[in-house]
Amino acid sequence: MYSLAVVLVSLLSVVPVYSRPSPDELGLLHDTLARGPPPDALSSSPNALNPRVPLSTNDDTPSPLVDLQVYAPPIVPRNGRSCEIVLLTHEFGDGSYGVPAIAEYTPPTDHACGGVDKWAAITLNVTVYSIGTQYDRLSSLYLSHVEILRHSSAEPTKTGTVWTVKDVTHYSALFRKPGQILMDFSNIISADLGLDASFHVDVTAAFHVATPSFPVPTTSDLILPLSNLSPNTTNLFTIEDDLGGTTNITIPPSTQQAFVEIYASGNSNEEFWYLNTPDEFLDRFPSSTGLVGKGPFREIQLVLDGRLAGVVWPHAVIYTGGITPTNWRPLTAYGTYDQPTYYIDVTPFLPLINDDKQHAFTLRVQGQGASPSINSNWFVSGSVHLKLGKKRVLGKMTTYDVQSNPSLKTTGSASNGNITVNTSVLAQRTVLIESELHGDIGRQIVRFEQQLNYSNLQRYEDDGWVQWGAQLTEGTSQSVHGGRMAFRDTFSYPLDVFSNYSLYDMQFGAYGSAINQTFSRTLQSPFLGLTHTILSVQHARGNVGMDDTPGLRHAINGTGATDQQFAFSSTSGETYFRDIAAKNDGWLRDSVWGTLKASEPPVPKNQIFEGGGHGFRRSLSTRRSPRSSYDTVSCSTPISRAQVEAL
Ligand SMILES: *[C@@H]1O[C@H](CO)[C@@H](O)[C@H](O)[C@H]1NC(C)=O
Ligand SMILES: *[C@@H]1O[C@H](CO)[C@@H](O)[C@H](O)[C@H]1NC(C)=O
Ligand SMILES: *[C@@H]1O[C@H](CO)[C@@H](O)[C@H](O)[C@H]1NC(C)=O
Ligand SMILES: *[C@@H]1O[C@H](CO)[C@@H](O)[C@H](O)[C@H]1NC(C)=O
Ligand SMILES: *[C@@H]1O[C@H](CO)[C@@H](O)[C@H](O)[C@H]1NC(C)=O
Ligand SMILES: *[C@@H]1O[C@H](CO)[C@@H](O)[C@H](O)[C@H]1NC(C)=O
Ligand SMILES: *[C@@H]1O[C@H](CO)[C@@H](O)[C@H](O)[C@H]1NC(C)=O
Ligand SMILES: *[C@@H]1O[C@H](CO)[C@@H](O)[C@H](O)[C@H]1NC(C)=O
Ligand SMILES: *[C@@H]1O[C@H](CO)[C@@H](O)[C@H](O)[C@H]1NC(C)=O
Repeated sequence: MYSLAVVLVSLLSVVPVYSRPSPDELGLLHDTLARGPPPDALSSSPNALNPRVPLSTNDDTPSPLVDLQVYAPPIVPRNGRSCEIVLLTHEFGDGSYGVPAIAEYTPPTDHACGGVDKWAAITLNVTVYSIGTQYDRLSSLYLSHVEILRHSSAEPTKTGTVWTVKDVTHYSALFRKPGQILMDFSNIISADLGLDASFHVDVTAAFHVATPSFPVPTTSDLILPLSNLSPNTTNLFTIEDDLGGTTNITIPPSTQQAFVEIYASGNSNEEFWYLNTPDEFLDRFPSSTGLVGKGPFREIQLVLDGRLAGVVWPHAVIYTGGITPTNWRPLTAYGTYDQPTYYIDVTPFLPLINDDKQHAFTLRVQGQGASPSINSNWFVSGSVHLKLGKKRVLGKMTTYDVQSNPSLKTTGSASNGNITVNTSVLAQRTVLIESELHGDIGRQIVRFEQQLNYSNLQRYEDDGWVQWGAQLTEGTSQSVHGGRMAFRDTFSYPLDVFSNYSLYDMQFGAYGSAINQTFSRTLQSPFLGLTHTILSVQHARGNVGMDDTPGLRHAINGTGATDQQFAFSSTSGETYFRDIAAKNDGWLRDSVWGTLKASEPPVPKNQIFEGGGHGFRRSLSTRRSPRSSYDTVSCSTPISRAQVEAL
């Protein structure tokens, strides 16, 4: 009778799986943003000086243009001790493509750092200084082969760019032991392409000692990499087939809980995966439009010994060269400098994998095309976070209700002559895995659940040169251990993109876009015990004018306007609100309020200008030689829209 009662109680306390963040979770954030900033949140009235021209080649303004991604500042103890150590200093310039920077890591021993078991929080400060012209390059940072940060660079200006800070407390287990820091920031310097900017990078870590009001949080005890483990090249898997990347992992028998964290981003022909065209309709368009096939739906799968353990339906991160690069300087899309990561609870699998033998953890990407289902390529890596105890967990999986593929429905229609084409992709999936486990805290039911919903509607005109894409990804992943919520991620990611390439092929061609993107997510991360909610709403519009030689695709002028409302709240009581806008490479307004305001204040008032900046201009005389052999600028092949511009 007693154990039956316990089971009933644990079933009753299961929180319902919502398909998106609930009104309760978002209410405070919506209301606060709607009321607007309090008077003291404004950075200032506009600067009385003339807006400087930060982008022309002859700009002699000494202070750098601060390019930023709005984010919630890390929560660290107030008035406690802390110390900062340098993890890495490196110049990623000529010859840095495929050649990461490597440094030894030793845990700090300075008194101010407190000792490895006294850290309440660890934060990273990655500062990148760059002057000149460069593409948006992708960077990834690893500690002991575990990816701890993935970010895109800003497209630099003649006056330099700087950025970003991240909370890495949940990687404490790695920071407690000596290890290796590896940072890949593959860059190319090429006079032919007019690419002259290198990236000067300083990575520091700050260790914050616990205080009576801010104790050491519970984190995982052991973190194992899901990566290629290379000692001297980037550690992520580059995925362009349906096999994915496999790491053999040995789970210690004393493991009580196990979560997998995943980093995933599309690159090259998968950079704009959410705008890719379903294959059923690709042949309606001339290949000169550069439209990419295999459809817009993507699912990252975690496969354990050949069995699907959970999936990720990712937020689309738009890099600084993305769609219309002039939209993202100096205000980037959410996630650009610190890509969101995702969790899958593999605790229900423990009795099957905690035998001190190797088990295959595979990360793969499922798309919509014929084999391979994706284009080239995706960058994927991850890590297994383990909570250790005493006893070996025994038990059995009682429910495994997981389809190998989501339910996917692709439809569409085309007008006479294929002038207008509409496509629709709908996807849904549920995952339910439940085990009865016997470990250190006795018998408990562990249940991991996902409920995901996706729609992507596209409309094409003018032979595909004009495209509207509206994607909505919503869902909840959660796990309940013995009636207690162990982890919960509930999200809604609407994305609307309009792009017009009608004049792209012309002499002095041009293109433009309008983009609305929202990131709305409540995340109770495993272990740390805190839940936070983020709401970011962005609108961006921009146009780029190009060189006089068809096919060169060389930006010579451009305009862009981006605004963002951002709200963050944590169950610890901390908040951060920001209302910010930029136009034509200058800041229009910035207000910051909430308890964390001082950690990330508004941009300095001498950088705010009425009307924004002057926009991007490059003198025609600096244009590159048409003899260049670099394929993104060659005239002979159709130019994919995925080939972004360097401003
Ligand atoms: C990050 O480091 C840079 C120097 O490398 C420094 O100027 C900046 O103030 C630091 N930011 C924070 C929030 O600590
Ligand atoms: C990289 O490491 C591999 C494996 O240890 C080794 O074979 C190779 O020579 C190394 N390459 C360089 C450039 O150090
Ligand atoms: C993992 O183990 C399997 C079976 O022992 C082996 O065939 C495979 O090469 C291993 N994979 C890696 C990446 O080490
Ligand atoms: C595509 O959708 C638009 C807007 O809903 C509609 O006006 C148009 O007729 C549709 N075209 C086709 C070919 O279905
Ligand atoms: C429209 O697309 C279909 C499918 O590719 C093709 O058979 C047809 O010729 C196209 N019509 C025109 C006018 O391009
Ligand atoms: C899933 O999305 C579709 C299309 O947006 C919508 O009609 C449906 O109601 C959604 N389902 C759930 C469970 O939210
Ligand atoms: C973006 O949102 C604005 C304001 O709600 C709306 O007017 C515009 O049509 C939207 N653009 C796209 C591409 O959906
Ligand atoms: C696309 O751009 C062209 C050239 O500026 C313009 O004529 C056309 O109206 C635009 N199309 C849409 C749907 O805005
Ligand atoms: C770029 O310059 C051309 C020629 O002066 C002009 O027509 C166009 O409007 C400009 N485009 C942008 C986006 O500033």
